Amino acid sequence: MNQLSNHKARGSALTTLVGGIVILLAVLFFLVKLANSGYFSNVEETTTSATETRIMPVGTLAMGDGTPIGERTGEQIFNKVCLQCHAADSNVPNAPRITNNGEWAPRIAKGFDTLFNNALNGFNAMPAKGGQSDLTDDELKRVIAYMANQSGGNFEAPAVGAAPADAAASGEAAPAAAEQAAAPAASTADGKQIFESTCVACHGATSAIPNSPKITKNDEWASRIKKGKEALFKNAIEGFTGPGGGFMPAKGGNTNLSDDEVKAAVTYMVNESGGKF
Ligand code: HEC
Ligand code: HEC
Repeated sequence: MNQLSNHKARGSALTTLVGGIVILLAVLFFLVKLANSGYFSNVEETTTSATETRIMPVGTLAMGDGTPIGERTGEQIFNKVCLQCHAADSNVPNAPRITNNGEWAPRIAKGFDTLFNNALNGFNAMPAKGGQSDLTDDELKRVIAYMANQSGGNFEAPAVGAAPADAAASGEAAPAAAEQAAAPAASTADGKQIFESTCVACHGATSAIPNSPKITKNDEWASRIKKGKEALFKNAIEGFTGPGGGFMPAKGGNTNLSDDEVKAAVTYMVNESGGKF
């Protein structure tokens, strides 16, 4: 009786041992298989896949939406990168929030080139390229235009899939690039166009900038118009601070405008608002 139970115990110990060895071998087998499967690139090998993994920009992994670098739209980039700080309900101090025309107006007034340079190189708490270092220049322009245009601006951005700006100049110019290049050279000042590109942010009919006379609001313009054409031209060209502390930046902040172009924009605004210049 005693002998029998001893025998049983020895048998079950053996089963456990053999079973353990089988499981161990199985685990080793799968580990070896996994290591050779190519799922992980071997660091010492220089296969294409290993190289690509190493040089892959961090941002590509973060975007994860499969759109190739250079082809991402302003909206896509905004939603992945800039939203963190520029969302409509962001509470990051000083970051101008999308669709908040009042916060964007003084930025827009700096002109597109300044905004682009500041976003490219960083500006106070604004990190260079918003921290997404793989953005191309055209992509950055697209997303700035996207944000600003949702916020009272009217900028042109390089189209997705269009030839890069320098290529466009030498051959078949993309329509957007051609228009941009032609704008500063225009000799006949188009008041409406200048208004829409520079002044609308603060003087648009629905602008939220305090003290600024809004286009088509005859009552807001009446007292300005009384000052006379030359006074308004001068104040628009040189800049002007009103008695209530309202601040009109010189040339609306766009120093590329000629005096005649500013005058044309004033004339356009006044004539849309009950005046006759
Ligand atoms: C980590 C937060 C953060 C992120 C992300 C960020 N920004 Fe900003 N951005 C700021 C802050 C803060 C300011 C205001 C800086 C100031 O005026 O002192 C700013 C200002 C700007 C301005 C105005 C610059 C000027 O000259 O007035 C532009 C344009 C801009 N950001 C574009 C972008 C774009 C495009 C992205 C996405 C690619 C982006 N930002 C992502 C924080 C951020
Ligand atoms: C950043 C905002 C901003 C932009 C951009 C801007 N303005 Fe103004 N402008 C103002 C404000 C604010 C006032 C009112 C100042 C006050 O009287 O308190 C004003 C006033 C004026 C006046 C009346 C001056 C007077 O003597 O009463 C004229 C004319 C004018 N702007 C022309 C322009 C033109 C033309 C442009 C575009 C080229 C432009 N502004 C762009 C903010 C702006």
